[in-house]
Amino acid sequence: MSPFVLDGCDLSMPAPGRLLPPRTFFSPAVFDAEMTRIFARSWVHVADLDELRNGGDFVAAAIGASPVVVLRGHDGVVRGFLNACPHRGATLADGRGNCGRQLRCPYHAWSFATDGRLVGASSRDEFACDFSTVALQPIRVACCGPMVFGCLDSDAPSFEEWIGELPEALARHGGDRLERAFEYAYEVDVNWKVYVENGLEGYHVAVVHDVLNDFVETKDARHHFEEHGSYTHASIKPEYRAMIPELPHLSAEERGRVRFGLVFPNLIPVLGPVEFSYLRIDPLGPERIRLVARSFDFGGDQALLRDFRRDAIDRTNRQDIGVVTRVQRGLHAHGFAGGMHSAFLESRIGHFERMVSRAHTGERISLARPGSFTRAQLVAECAGTLAMRATT
Ligand code: FES
Ligand SMILES: [Fe+2]
Repeated sequence: MSPFVLDGCDLSMPAPGRLLPPRTFFSPAVFDAEMTRIFARSWVHVADLDELRNGGDFVAAAIGASPVVVLRGHDGVVRGFLNACPHRGATLADGRGNCGRQLRCPYHAWSFATDGRLVGASSRDEFACDFSTVALQPIRVACCGPMVFGCLDSDAPSFEEWIGELPEALARHGGDRLERAFEYAYEVDVNWKVYVENGLEGYHVAVVHDVLNDFVETKDARHHFEEHGSYTHASIKPEYRAMIPELPHLSAEERGRVRFGLVFPNLIPVLGPVEFSYLRIDPLGPERIRLVARSFDFGGDQALLRDFRRDAIDRTNRQDIGVVTRVQRGLHAHGFAGGMHSAFLESRIGHFERMVSRAHTGERISLARPGSFTRAQLVAECAGTLAMRATT
């Protein structure tokens, strides 16, 4: 296959163990292409259900560069719309709140019922349009545990196909009973892919993270590769297992492990026995992100670990921010040939970059691999791939 080049970046699938060219992580043209080829075609986390409890509750969010608004109707249905007024395009909503019975545009006061219908506009006789057809433009929405996702593309796969193993795992952990415990937001000078990749590997944990390293064992982890995501199942170290209460709904194995996931392109869910957290990496520009970190638990006795987690998550995020901003600066080094990834500890980075490349090139290939993979399997496979390439 011939190389697929954009702004000097070869976005074809990287060779085994290699990473996309450094410029891919700061080129404005690649960033713009990712907003349409990746974000506008993916299921992206936009809100949580606890922000949408009552009729009229809304959250203004973004799917890549597109402003959207999700809204609970007075009929109880959660809907999503482009956050763009059909009149001249002004955004209708900011932040989160309750709009009452109607969402009213701040520019010329067109107003919309919570199901998107236009219900108010002045000077109608001056417009050459059939007002009965004017409405907010709907987007696809779907829920999973405490989360709401949106999708701009009617041709994208179904949500069930996209989200993979997460809903079932969340349901087993009692995901519908989760309560918001705390949240953090940070803005960081880094490309969104650099931050995602940092969240996909356990190689840096022993070097960068004191608390997280005390908590999980990365060496005996198993990796799962889905069509639009991936997971690491890692065990909780014995000292910390003692802190976890009896949980009759979970098997002994599930009580002792944490799932670190990726829902492509930008959500990193982390599911442990007593909590669910996520990191969402919102792309703001080629070298700027907003990082949204939220954590949920089941309240009651299990909230005892909340203070510990509150400190540990903020500390871990700040440690990650320290290293990813180094990567971002280093990628600009003139003549830097591009990075590499290890076969096991960083295997999910390779899988992520293949998803990025597939989205850019439009290649129709499957990236799902049934089963879970151990260190020995992935290292042997990588050695085999390299040997095969050497002989061809
Ligand atoms: S742009 Fe919304 S009413 Fe004019
Ligand atoms: Fe980290």
